Amino acid sequence: MSEFKKLVFSGVQPTGNLHLGNYLGAIRKFVALQEDSDCIYCVVDLHAITAQLVHEDLRAQTRSIAAAFIAAGIDPVKHIVFNQSAVPQHAELAWVFNCVARIGWMERMTQFKDKSGKNAEQVSLGLLAYPSLMAADILVYRATHVPVGDDQKQHLELARDIAQKFNIDFGGQIKSAGLGLDIVVGEEPVHAYFPMVEPLIGGPAPRVMSLKDGSKKMSKSDPSDLSRINLMDDVDAISKKIRKAKTDPDALPRETEGLKGRPEAENLVGIFAALADKSKAEVLQEFGGQQFSAFKPALIDLAVNVLAPINLEMRRLLDDTNHIDAILRDGSERAGVIAEKTMNEVRDIVGFLR
Ligand code: TRP
Repeated sequence: MSEFKKLVFSGVQPTGNLHLGNYLGAIRKFVALQEDSDCIYCVVDLHAITAQLVHEDLRAQTRSIAAAFIAAGIDPVKHIVFNQSAVPQHAELAWVFNCVARIGWMERMTQFKDKSGKNAEQVSLGLLAYPSLMAADILVYRATHVPVGDDQKQHLELARDIAQKFNIDFGGQIKSAGLGLDIVVGEEPVHAYFPMVEPLIGGPAPRVMSLKDGSKKMSKSDPSDLSRINLMDDVDAISKKIRKAKTDPDALPRETEGLKGRPEAENLVGIFAALADKSKAEVLQEFGGQQFSAFKPALIDLAVNVLAPINLEMRRLLDDTNHIDAILRDGSERAGVIAEKTMNEVRDIVGFLR
């Protein structure tokens, strides 16, 4: 028995501005993982056109996500940062996966049901096939670990289903081409070409909620900009948004149980804890008994300390589009080498002449 080499892959769509929730929930995790794993981080521009075809500023959005990755601390030289459309093997493998996966698997996805609503016959075919492309993103590198938010768990299970069905349907061809590894899936030994990807979900990153409503997730689609802190917000905007954040009239509790039923207090304490790399209990040891009028200035200081340098670096990177484009091109080239090796093997397995 053997194992696939550990490789981390994740993707972020270039739609809308990144906010504190994206940073604490995803990007900071990406940064931490690069210390002990090889990582590939992708701006998934092919996914961006599934829900909305025409974007005024897709190129600018793509650069902005790449700049956020790098400004947050991802090293594009040691690791790989690139945009999906520049490596056409993603779309090519997705086509094979479209023929592996069943329509029913796609129609069952809760995100598809949410996004298509009553309009399922009118949304793009790409939106239905979205999870198949996502599986291809990961598996074209035969990546093993995928840091994502909770909401992507179902898509990753589907990626495993696709990998599993490919491994079984093409079992004979994989063996006779001398490809694949003997791995254990569940208790079963299988000869696999594609690994069973593992989600990396949760960890220290909290669910960051809206600053205006502690029961709603912080979201780029919230009409009120005061509901979120954007990574591109400057010091004034960060301060103003925290000052105006919804709270309740009580002082902060001394124990975490006291946050129950106080979603806004819980959210702000959670944000403080995540930014300071502390637990909520530790934050409450320090601030328990104090009013929000004392806590908020401390949170503003902390948020500005963490976010302002990222903001500054993002702006610096985005000022020089040639530089950021060169970083992405270099990443695409290096990603393309790995992806092309996989695709050649997939072509042999499936039986395409080359
Ligand atoms: N669907 C993911 C999201 O919306 C983005 C994504 C596309 C992705 N391809 C991926 C995430 C591959 C992880 C791995 O968040």
